[in-house]
Amino acid sequence: MPAMSLNLVPHIEWVGDAATGHLRLLDQTRLPRETVHLDCRSVQAVWDAIKVLAVRGAPAIGVAAAYGCVIAAQGAGDARDRLARGGDHLATSRPTAVNLFWAIERMKRVRPATPEALLAEARAIHAEDAAMCLAIGEHGLPLLKLAIERTGGRGSGHGSGQGAVLTHCNAGALATGGIGTATAPMYLAHQRGLSFKVFADETRPLLQGARLTAYELQAAGIDVTLICDSMAAQVMREGKVAMIIVGADRIAANGDAANKIGTYSLAIAAKHHGVPFYVAAPHSTFDLTLPDGSGIPIEERAAAEITEGFGQRTAPVGVKTYSPAFDVTPAALITALITDRGVIEPVTTVNVRAIIGT
Ligand code: MRU
Repeated sequence: MPAMSLNLVPHIEWVGDAATGHLRLLDQTRLPRETVHLDCRSVQAVWDAIKVLAVRGAPAIGVAAAYGCVIAAQGAGDARDRLARGGDHLATSRPTAVNLFWAIERMKRVRPATPEALLAEARAIHAEDAAMCLAIGEHGLPLLKLAIERTGGRGSGHGSGQGAVLTHCNAGALATGGIGTATAPMYLAHQRGLSFKVFADETRPLLQGARLTAYELQAAGIDVTLICDSMAAQVMREGKVAMIIVGADRIAANGDAANKIGTYSLAIAAKHHGVPFYVAAPHSTFDLTLPDGSGIPIEERAAAEITEGFGQRTAPVGVKTYSPAFDVTPAALITALITDRGVIEPVTTVNVRAIIGT
């Protein structure tokens, strides 16, 4: 098959000059039905966009917050002070993805704190993220090829008789400044003419897998099949899954990885069925200040997201809810971490430190 070109929609853009420009985001809450952009001209507007998941996915949140820091420094008065206050406010938008704090801290270190210097740094963070996605893709591609080859006989009930790659949530182009993390090996495999299939978990309650992963993979021409989260174990039992690749919001020093709720149960099912389970993430997603995943803050989301998601009431008024947005998959369930700096396998503190640093 001939190589394909990747035609990904830009979803985070700076519009105008540093002193008066603004951040334009593709509003991911409206996908896949509508393509609507949000023009963020204040720190609060960027905060809101992150909070409501108009921009989401750990690396994309970091990139958006970096541009938000440029907006914070615009206008008259002490730019350094405004940057500090704006950055601190942006840091309260969501607690789990460490990329948010990583990007804000990096922006706060810029000297002088002029909008021009800050915009250059935000653009660098954005470009570096794209480069890290590509590197993750290159490191992950041989693993994808191997899994597909090894399971050549699997999946007879689903198309070509070849095992598929399963992913959860959206760790794709829409979640990053580049070709995604979990999706990076898929995009490169597709570009280089490899034939393979993908299962996308729907991802309750906000349906990032259905609305975003299925949308962007389908748009790229990748063979994607949507399943409900609760179907994944059965699909594995049927031998249709060659490997699982997911993203991460924060990875502790021992390799425990926080990602979208449902990832942990997927990893348990993968272990039971002997399916390799990979977590793909750039080095900016590692938090080496945490020895293990027990210290990772888990965001709790509003009850309405599970009782009346997308404006449709599906639970009785007044019912109690509990809605952790992320879970932590223990390192012992992760076959390898695919990073921009290389593949970490087995996943141990020593190996994480050797590849990611101290
Ligand atoms: O709540 P979200 O949509 O921001 O959650 C996103 C995820 O869990 C992604 O898998 C993770 O951020 C990695 S994105 C490359």
